[in-house]
Amino acid sequence: MSPSVYHIIHLVSLFVLFGYTFYAFAAPAETRKKVLMITGIASILVLVSGFGLVSRIYGNKFELWMIIKLGAWLGVSALTGFGYRRRGAAGVLAIIAIVLAATAVSMVYLKPAL
Ligand code: HEM
Repeated sequence: MSPSVYHIIHLVSLFVLFGYTFYAFAAPAETRKKVLMITGIASILVLVSGFGLVSRIYGNKFELWMIIKLGAWLGVSALTGFGYRRRGAAGVLAIIAIVLAATAVSMVYLKPAL
């Protein structure tokens, strides 16, 4: 697949992942199953398209900034579940989501190396 297709899948699934993650922080409890399914699928698409880009643009050569993005992805992917379990922590979870998004996006443009 062309890198452009991976770029599009990466960004669209990121919008879905973050949108539903923030929704999870305030959504009624009965939406849990549906929202966990949507964020789960979006999360997998972010990962697969991310690795598609690593393969297509960087010839599968792994760099530090990609590993940092993987950490941010892991953190964001865990937030939906926390959102439903810890209702009182919505504010803190939202801040964590914003910090993780800022970290992952910064990595693309700063590309720190060892
Ligand atoms: C919280 C999770 C993530 C966020 C917010 C995020 C965000 C972004 C953004 C905004 C871009 C630039 C737009 C684009 O080129 O399509 C991008 C590109 C990219 N992402 Fe992600 N990403 C995340 C997770 C990942 C993961 C898990 C990987 C896999 C290691 C990954 C690998 C890449 C690569 C290789 C690029 C292309 C960089 C380039 O064009 O030089 N991303 N990401």
